[in-house]
Amino acid sequence: MKIGIDKIGFYTPHLYLDMNNLAKSRGEEPEKFTIGIGQEKMALAPITQDPVTMAANAALEILTEEDKNKIDLVMFGTESGIDHSKSAGIYVHQLLDLNPEARTIELKQACYGATAAIQLAKGHIALHPESKVLVIASDIARYGLNTSGEVTQGAGACAMLISANPRILELEEKSACYTADIMDFWRPVYSEEAFVDGKFSNEQYIAFFSKVWEQYKEKSGLELSDFEAICYHMPYTKMGLKALRTVLEEGSEDVQERLLENYEVSKAYNKNIGNIYTGSLYLSLLSFLEQKEDLEAGARIGLYSYGSGAVGEFFTGILQPYYREHLHVDHHEKLLSSRKELSVSEYEEIFEETLPTDGSTLELDVNEDPAVICVAGIKDHMRQYVNKEK
Ligand code: CAA
Repeated sequence: MKIGIDKIGFYTPHLYLDMNNLAKSRGEEPEKFTIGIGQEKMALAPITQDPVTMAANAALEILTEEDKNKIDLVMFGTESGIDHSKSAGIYVHQLLDLNPEARTIELKQACYGATAAIQLAKGHIALHPESKVLVIASDIARYGLNTSGEVTQGAGACAMLISANPRILELEEKSACYTADIMDFWRPVYSEEAFVDGKFSNEQYIAFFSKVWEQYKEKSGLELSDFEAICYHMPYTKMGLKALRTVLEEGSEDVQERLLENYEVSKAYNKNIGNIYTGSLYLSLLSFLEQKEDLEAGARIGLYSYGSGAVGEFFTGILQPYYREHLHVDHHEKLLSSRKELSVSEYEEIFEETLPTDGSTLELDVNEDPAVICVAGIKDHMRQYVNKEK
């Protein structure tokens, strides 16, 4: 039985900052950010968006009533969740009126959370072929103002429906994983911002890639030439390229050219949004599928997932016939082109804006935010969510 990604939805907030302007205001050459790091724009979440609302907005676009009835497992991957106890998935479940007989959980392993969810979903579908699983990846990446990680922030969510006989990408059975306890990037429970050992994290991303790539080749008997493209977790778009370059020599000139060309396509959305942590790999996959028009069904796509701390996994998918009919290219292009640009001082002001933590009540004006699902405020330590279409 084929199991894989049947639908993919995506959401990013309506505000962005141009990286040229950030570079100038931080005393850096713009090319460091746009070429050295590879980021052009960075999405910013206003106070009316959080990982829950972004997730719900991403899922809203793909789910039909039939899907909602068949979803019996909701898995929410995030490392910027809003509660240490309650799963962010429960709020999404309520906002989207999902089937009450579903299981709902939140998963965390840095940027690897959604990949873990997808692999668990595969097992679930193998046991229950009629069911569908909603996997959501949603995060706000925050390093803090004036830090070296600032240029690698972002905000957004991907929602994927995993099912039997998927219409977009069949996930193949073989995959390779590697876990080791390292401190490259982490966020203690008392901190709003991540701590990172930047250079070490870059090295470990590549070291883990090398381990899972070698392990995968051994397990599968496949080689570089078997791949139409490799999509990477993209903390910033130069990172995946650095990893790809470490294996390019394994392919002929044609193969190298194809993989490099396709890498450029696979970063189309990421370079305009920034790091969305656990959703970044799936945003790259979406860029590739939506922005590369001449892909043939049957093409094999490699996927490298990396979650600091750390877990790495390499797995693969086969593109399904007529996959393009199940994408929402126009909607996603409009989402990006209709965003509002912020000045650096506006960005800094929004960045510092947070919900009260002392139990006081705050009501927010959700009319400023074009998203359907928003944070409308907080009361008695409970976030108030609104679905404007309900
Ligand atoms: N023109 C072109 N390129 C320039 C340039 C210019 N004028 N000036 C500098 N550059 C290049 C540098 O040569 C460098 O390129 P290489 O890496 O190819 O050598 C690049 O710009 C970046 O320059 P620096 O290394 O000096 O940048 P930095 O010290 O300010 O920090 C960073 C970069 C370490 C990525 C930092 O932004 C950071 O800590 N980011 C957060 C951590 C991160 O994203 N890690 C990735 C792996 S971990 C992971 O993947 C999980 C996750 O999501 C967090």
